[in-house]
Amino acid sequence: MEESGKKEKQTILSGIQPTGVFTLGNYIGAIRNWGKMQEEYDCAYFVADLHSLTVRQDPAALRKQSLDAFALLLSCGIDPEKSLIFIQSHVPAHAELSWILSCYTQFGELSRMTQFKDKSAKHADNVNAGLFTYPALMAADILLYQADLVPVGADQKQHLEFTRDVATRFNNLYGGAFKIPEPYISQTGAKIMSLQEPTKKMSKSDENKNAFITILDEPNVIINKFKRAVTDSEKEVCFREGKDGINNLITIYSILTGKTVAQVEQEFAGKGYGDFKLAVGEVVADKLAPVRENFKRYSADRAYLEQVYRAGADRAAAISARTLAKVKKKVGLAAR
Ligand code: TRP
Repeated sequence: MEESGKKEKQTILSGIQPTGVFTLGNYIGAIRNWGKMQEEYDCAYFVADLHSLTVRQDPAALRKQSLDAFALLLSCGIDPEKSLIFIQSHVPAHAELSWILSCYTQFGELSRMTQFKDKSAKHADNVNAGLFTYPALMAADILLYQADLVPVGADQKQHLEFTRDVATRFNNLYGGAFKIPEPYISQTGAKIMSLQEPTKKMSKSDENKNAFITILDEPNVIINKFKRAVTDSEKEVCFREGKDGINNLITIYSILTGKTVAQVEQEFAGKGYGDFKLAVGEVVADKLAPVRENFKRYSADRAYLEQVYRAGADRAAAISARTLAKVKKKVGLAAR
């Protein structure tokens, strides 16, 4: 990804949509790990605001959420001195490459995307072309930066597979323009489930506010949500098939404390669910306290935020321009 062309570290890239305050699930499953990867990799992280337009948004809310999302990434430990961090729509190359890639994408392959099928069923009154071509934009995001690795959850796996397909197709036609990205499977990441329906993934768009923790929730709110978490009618804190609620709580506790599942089971042997839920709530509140503090600080300092996202956009533009220029030349667009 480096501007100089010489590189030792692999590039990791990921994006997150600004459709609300991130949840504990986003934090444990993704963003917390993004921060940890900064030493070992060249990292690029961005707020995927263009992606959010595929579903109707309130303009003022989207604008605020995008800036908040940027501040949240900083608050979670993404360091602009170490990583490239920017807002997608500030870098026009994403939309440009997306158009070109969409001309190398088949209707049939987009029709097979399960997320398209799900979202078009959910928003049947607005099955827009952007919702359909969304994977081409995501492919552009990744390929512009010649990313080696992309940390994605299960729901984005198919889109990454598509990215690899379109990049390979393009490379075969024109000779290598793109690095073929690999999925990055994190050792510490985990899928965090809803606190109310623990067979469902925790989602910030859940109508039941008790089902998810946002990373800005106040400690008492966090503790109360954990107290209300759905478990089962048994008494034993142990990780076992069928105990989805307890398994989810054990996962959260184990990841945030660094203890193994066995150690957690031992710690709560003979204790009731009430004690356990309280302990989980306290650990989560503890871990999220600095994030909330940082966010207060960053969002009060608009000048700093502007400076950071502008610098990020400039650097992202410089890096992505190289790939875009190569692609334009290969497909036969006349040089300016
Ligand atoms: N589509 C992803 C999501 O909704 C966000 C995203 C956009 C992304 N571009 C990306 C993730 C590129 C990884 C790489 O979660």
